[in-house]
Amino acid sequence: MQYLLHALLFSTFSFEQVLAAKKDPPLVPIEDPFYLPPDPDCLPSEVDCWKNSTGVVLRKREVTVANVVTGERASLRHVDENPDASVTTVIVPVIPNKKRVISLQSAYDSPDTNCAPSYGLQHKAQGWGKTWNRLNLAFLAPYLQTGPILNIPDYEGSNAAFAVGPQSGYQTLDSIKAALSLESREYTGIKEDAKVIMFGYSGGALATEWATEMKAWYAETLPIVGAVIGGAPTNITSTYHNVNGGDLATLNVWAMLGIMNAYPTMNQWMRDDLRTDAYQDKRFLLELTSCSYASPALAKGLNFANISAMFKQGDKFLTQFSNILNEIGVMGKNITEQNNPGYPLAFFYGTEDEVTYPLEDTQKLIDKWKTVGKVEKVSDWPLKGETHASALLKGVGKAWLWMNCQFDEAEKSKEMHCDKELPEDATDYQNQMSFSPSQELR
Ligand SMILES: *[C@@H]1O[C@H](CO)[C@@H](O)[C@H](O)[C@H]1NC(C)=O
Ligand SMILES: *[C@@H]1O[C@H](CO)[C@@H](O)[C@H](O)[C@H]1NC(C)=O
Ligand SMILES: *[C@@H]1O[C@H](CO)[C@@H](O)[C@H](O)[C@H]1NC(C)=O
Ligand SMILES: *[C@@H]1O[C@H](CO)[C@@H](O)[C@H](O)[C@H]1NC(C)=O
Repeated sequence: MQYLLHALLFSTFSFEQVLAAKKDPPLVPIEDPFYLPPDPDCLPSEVDCWKNSTGVVLRKREVTVANVVTGERASLRHVDENPDASVTTVIVPVIPNKKRVISLQSAYDSPDTNCAPSYGLQHKAQGWGKTWNRLNLAFLAPYLQTGPILNIPDYEGSNAAFAVGPQSGYQTLDSIKAALSLESREYTGIKEDAKVIMFGYSGGALATEWATEMKAWYAETLPIVGAVIGGAPTNITSTYHNVNGGDLATLNVWAMLGIMNAYPTMNQWMRDDLRTDAYQDKRFLLELTSCSYASPALAKGLNFANISAMFKQGDKFLTQFSNILNEIGVMGKNITEQNNPGYPLAFFYGTEDEVTYPLEDTQKLIDKWKTVGKVEKVSDWPLKGETHASALLKGVGKAWLWMNCQFDEAEKSKEMHCDKELPEDATDYQNQMSFSPSQELR
């Protein structure tokens, strides 16, 4: 993680340049009326009506970047399909290529709605939401000068359901639909024939992979021409075991609270099972507000903590709710020929990734994708010896070149073999940062 923080310092400049000066600090989402959905046009019982109005722009405003509220009206909040509204942020670079949109699913990994990128990316945002979201955007910093328009959805939705796969997928696809809608295009300048590529690493890969499994049946007509999926947590339960007690243990608290946000029964059960001695219940639940205050909480961090030990019955919740965790937390169940998204995929991951371990789960997922559609359209980039943090730095440069090539292929309608044509040295993040503008994603 320290390595990543370093990258932020490196990239902050070009990011700040893009931001116009704005006087007042923005309100956090729970205080900001912009986030409240307007009265719906459909009665709760009119399921068709709701489904027809997903991905509709309900409200829009310009912040330092363009902010668009999207109608997430059939988004899955828990077991039922419930209407919801969510925000996506559209960033238009200084010199934009308006025929290209990259949907960046940022790994904001949080059960607090105030951690959403739509807030954290605003000028003068405060607290952890700002630090973390800008860190995530830092990887794209060179492209804020010139390149595709960026769509950055708050894909966890208004209830911050981090780690809930289907919801992340719905919201990602609905945000793209909204960004490409006429109402958005008149505002953002995105062209009618624009093509879209999705990109996500870690928590962002969770949203991107689920969206890809759903694309064929949920958003068939969206002009998506590729997806990059990096460091994908294929099974939430495995990730729980992998990171518990280690330097990323807080991830377990965020993931469990995110799922609890979506499942009331699990929420109640786990709250009741929290240990109250030494304020452990309060410490666990404090993460629900990790981005709600400008100054960090005084409480001790939970990294290296045994999260299971905060519960009376240890990690019993993993088995008690294994049906939920396997349904919404395991990738690949819906990879079928019928659900073939019809666009190329690129997977990259460290072979020593301690978050998504075991490696064979990732390999199985990729193999499954290879069985639907064309094998050569699924790129597999294992990064030998790299960990969860270092694989991102190593892989992102290659990913950007691949995306550039996929856009070219879609626009020219000619076969490009993007995977094979990438230069060998494209695997270094530092190289990526030194590209001259003419080489960038235009
Ligand atoms: C929803 O859309 C479908 C197809 O466009 C249409 O046939 C149907 O009448 C619509 N339903 C409602 C309630 O608007
Ligand atoms: C996910 O991982 C857990 C333990 O790591 C395992 O028990 C479970 O069967 C896995 N789920 C699926 C659907 O493979
Ligand atoms: C973590 O806590 C659980 C529940 O108290 C316990 O069963 C487990 O052994 C602990 N793990 C470690 C590595 O201490
Ligand atoms: C799986 O795909 C089918 C359509 O083929 C869809 O009806 C179903 O809801 C999908 N399930 C999930 C969990 O994505």
